[in-house]
Amino acid sequence: MKTGIVLQARNGSTRFPYKMVADINGRKSIEWLLKRLEKVKVNERIVATSWKEEDRDILKIAEYHNWKTLAGDPEDVLSRYAKAVEDFSLDVVVRITGDCPLIDPELVQKALSKALEEDVDYLVLTGIIDGFDVEVIKGEWILRAHQKAKLPSEREHVSPYIRKSKKAKKLFYKIHEEDLSHIHLSLDYPEDLVIIERIIKILGKEDFTYEEVVKLIKEKPEILKREKEIPVNEGYLKSLRQDKDFIRSLRAKPLKLENSLRHFEKTKTLIPNCSQTFSKSYLQFSVGAVPLFVKEGKGCYLTDLDENTYIDYTMGLGACILGYAFEPVIERVEKELRRGTVFTLPSYLETELAELLRETIPCCEMARFGKNGSDVTSAGVRLARAYTGRKYIACCGYHGWQDWYIGTTTRDRGIPEEVKSLTLSFEYNNIQSLERLFEEYKNQIACVIMEPVGVEEPKEDFLQKVRELTQKHGALLIFDEVVSGFRFSLGGAQEYFGVVPDLACFGKAMGNGMPISAIVGRSEIMELFEEVFFSFTFGGETASIVSAIATIQYLRDKKVIPYLWEQGKRLKQSIQKLIEDKEMEDIAFVKGYDVRFLLDFVGENSLKLKTLFQQECAKRGILFTGSHNMALPHDDKIVEKTLEVYDEVFDIVKFAVEYDMVDELIEGQILQPVFRKM
Ligand SMILES: Cc1ncc(COP(=O)(O)O)c(C=O)c1O
Repeated sequence: MKTGIVLQARNGSTRFPYKMVADINGRKSIEWLLKRLEKVKVNERIVATSWKEEDRDILKIAEYHNWKTLAGDPEDVLSRYAKAVEDFSLDVVVRITGDCPLIDPELVQKALSKALEEDVDYLVLTGIIDGFDVEVIKGEWILRAHQKAKLPSEREHVSPYIRKSKKAKKLFYKIHEEDLSHIHLSLDYPEDLVIIERIIKILGKEDFTYEEVVKLIKEKPEILKREKEIPVNEGYLKSLRQDKDFIRSLRAKPLKLENSLRHFEKTKTLIPNCSQTFSKSYLQFSVGAVPLFVKEGKGCYLTDLDENTYIDYTMGLGACILGYAFEPVIERVEKELRRGTVFTLPSYLETELAELLRETIPCCEMARFGKNGSDVTSAGVRLARAYTGRKYIACCGYHGWQDWYIGTTTRDRGIPEEVKSLTLSFEYNNIQSLERLFEEYKNQIACVIMEPVGVEEPKEDFLQKVRELTQKHGALLIFDEVVSGFRFSLGGAQEYFGVVPDLACFGKAMGNGMPISAIVGRSEIMELFEEVFFSFTFGGETASIVSAIATIQYLRDKKVIPYLWEQGKRLKQSIQKLIEDKEMEDIAFVKGYDVRFLLDFVGENSLKLKTLFQQECAKRGILFTGSHNMALPHDDKIVEKTLEVYDEVFDIVKFAVEYDMVDELIEGQILQPVFRKM
């Protein structure tokens, strides 16, 4: 265990230039420190100053007194401490600042012994008179702070990063009950010299102790009298100002968004909500700070109306799993467009797709197609009601825009109470909540429709238990795999978790961006579609049918899904590591599976934090919505770039929270939720 005092000293103080060489009773101020600290038992004594010309004298004086020396970056005190730790292989550093000529070696020794005894990473004496300051810091923590600390205050004052870290074992060591920290005996202003000299003179010796100074002040408080009052908190306020300016400077320059905003004004008069989908609308994008419309997409890049490009992870709400405008799919679609898309008779291609689904999805014996996820979830519900002759539906998750489901949400305007009363909700991973529904609505529930998995893992065989319960109560089980399908595995979450439902709904990724969805399931139930009305003009439109065939074949033949898991794992784990490294666990979190996860923010300010994160990501070329739907173009380079950006932007959010600057840093409108909290 190698211990060392590192005394930081410089002549460049703005409040008191050349104070280190100022005379105190016939000796230079720094010499008081050097002499007094000689009595402390440590392995090394080092003066760390700057490499500036004005600090040469400090080096000479230190060498004369047989101290080791180190000259480092004048602007970065923390780096000087790190250099001391490295150059002298220090395990434990006693940090003393040059503005404490009265420093008491006994007190220093006491602090050091206590830190070693308690094996803390950081110890500071608290409540003592200002001017006797001692900190004891483990060398490894100085190196860690040096590597991670960014704020000016953290670089200048060495210990703030460590003091703020929840991971450091800290001891705020009180050596007396009374708080005397308001008494100022450090050497910050020329006026301080007078009082320090006065104290040394009255004590009349060189080896006075801290206790003797305390006693003297108690007996003769008038010795602290000053001609001129010193400003209160000046150093702290300066540091705060510097930190805030630094945080502001971390923001990238605003994006050019003129065309986006002009288009927004026009669209407002033409399209309610300015979008066909709530989650693509301006509710989800910070108006004024990020783009609102897209011109085109290729791979995982989007280009906005102002020609800015962004890496995207939302990927058309999870639809474009192979990337935007993916050539092998386009080729098939283009060919089909030239052969006609909607006819008087069904196309033979429908059978080809149904056959492919049967080969791929465990529960699929027969299939019907729709355009949106809502088409097929609603078809499933109608089919289940027809099959069972029952009217109630139990649901869990999101299932689309139709009355039967949206009546359970906060956006339920326009939906009659009678319709709402027929859909019952239960909680994911809470099997009792479903059991209660089956008890209360005995023999009246037609089906359980649920997302087999969202961002939460199914726990304690939840899916198996739902399967058993539905069988026991004669209800159908419908897996809504609109999101999980062709993503968790080629055969969907049912294949991934090994639980086979009666019916299942697919959409989104199935056609890589073309409008196609499917309801699949057991023949015995599916055959009822001979009677149940599920029928519309564009149901068998061939461009979308072939896009699904091409997409599924590509996913299968090129083993895309395992690759998405791999890339997602890297990205998700690295984001998690960033959050942990920055100790932001109480601000941000990632949740979900590697192929599809969310990055979101904590607490009542979460939407503001998300707004700020989105704003700074957009400026750095990433369109952030929180969703990470992994897709084929998310290769190593894209993942690297994303992590670089998140690394920077996390800092902004973290500092904004720490310094209460979130509102100040937000440049656009604050995001709004599509559904309010219930
Ligand atoms: C799980 C789930 N089911 C159904 C739907 C409805 O699909 P669509 O919006 O294509 O109608 C969605 C849409 O996001 C969904 O996430």
